[in-house]
Amino acid sequence: MNDRRPDDMVRITTAELADSYIEEQLKALREQIGDKKVLLALSGGVDSSVVAALLIKAIGDRLTCVHVNHGLLRKGEPEQVIEVFRNRMKANLIYVDATDRFLDKLAGVTDPEEKRKIIGGEFIEVFAEEARKLDSIEFLAQGTIWPDILESEAGIKAHHNAGGLPEDMKFELVEPVRILFKDEVRIVGERLGLPAGMVYRQPFPGPGLGVRCPGAITRERLEAVRESDAILREDFAKNGLEGKVWQYFTVVPDFKSTGVKDGRRTFDWPCIIRAINTTDVMEVTVEHLNDKLIDHLVQRIISEVPGINRVLFDYTPKPPATVEYE
Ligand code: XMP
Repeated sequence: MNDRRPDDMVRITTAELADSYIEEQLKALREQIGDKKVLLALSGGVDSSVVAALLIKAIGDRLTCVHVNHGLLRKGEPEQVIEVFRNRMKANLIYVDATDRFLDKLAGVTDPEEKRKIIGGEFIEVFAEEARKLDSIEFLAQGTIWPDILESEAGIKAHHNAGGLPEDMKFELVEPVRILFKDEVRIVGERLGLPAGMVYRQPFPGPGLGVRCPGAITRERLEAVRESDAILREDFAKNGLEGKVWQYFTVVPDFKSTGVKDGRRTFDWPCIIRAINTTDVMEVTVEHLNDKLIDHLVQRIISEVPGINRVLFDYTPKPPATVEYE
């Protein structure tokens, strides 16, 4: 298997090129793995999903996928992972609902870095616990892609994929999309039969909705983030903005303001909508929404999401603002 992207490798832009990459990888995977078993942390993101689809084709049920629901996933995400991988692709999938574990550990924690550390640490712990229950697994598959390698070599980003597992857990790595760029991974995923919504989905941070529920996470406020995010995604899709706008989401900050509903005073949270475009995420511009869509989103969110009495739009570019709030 190639460790590095060959200088003369043709960019995968067509179905034919993707198909021949898939054929090559299936052969390489079967050679590397032989009759052994492989473990994969399957988040449902593009990269790990494509790795899963490739391995299911290459070695079938000798791949075990572990999907850890940390309780900070978007509405419908764990269900989609189960539907696509367990029901349709017949994958050997272990689904762990660790919501209570994560939310209990995060209770009262306000510092953003501390929150990230808890989420990352707990994730490794849950994954390692599941791995220990399995016998004779020799390989660990990862959705490392070529920009991860370039960025870690340039010192821009620590490449966390391989790190973190306890010392005594030693696996040989399997990285079948390691030499691909993101756009190539997407085409390969489509050719492997993954749904377009999974392959072309917007970026979503590892700590999930946790960074969109600033300050100490409570179940009520987290639910308001999840429900408002689902409404935003649904209406962006209906208005042809899905796949066009680079990233869009809602944030529910930890403060309340007065309002009035059905003749009664309310004291509820605001919901902030952020929709941005970028090529490299270093600089970001804001997607300007049309008035009709703005009015519609405000109406839906205040009437459908418990605990929200105001909708605000964040029209700040990066810099000075980052994409996420924490
Ligand atoms: P910022 O907020 O740094 O975000 O302007 C830039 C991009 O990175 C994503 N992001 C993260 N992704 N773990 C991730 O996997 C994180 O902790 C994290 N923080 C930000 C963000 O969604 C945006 O696409």
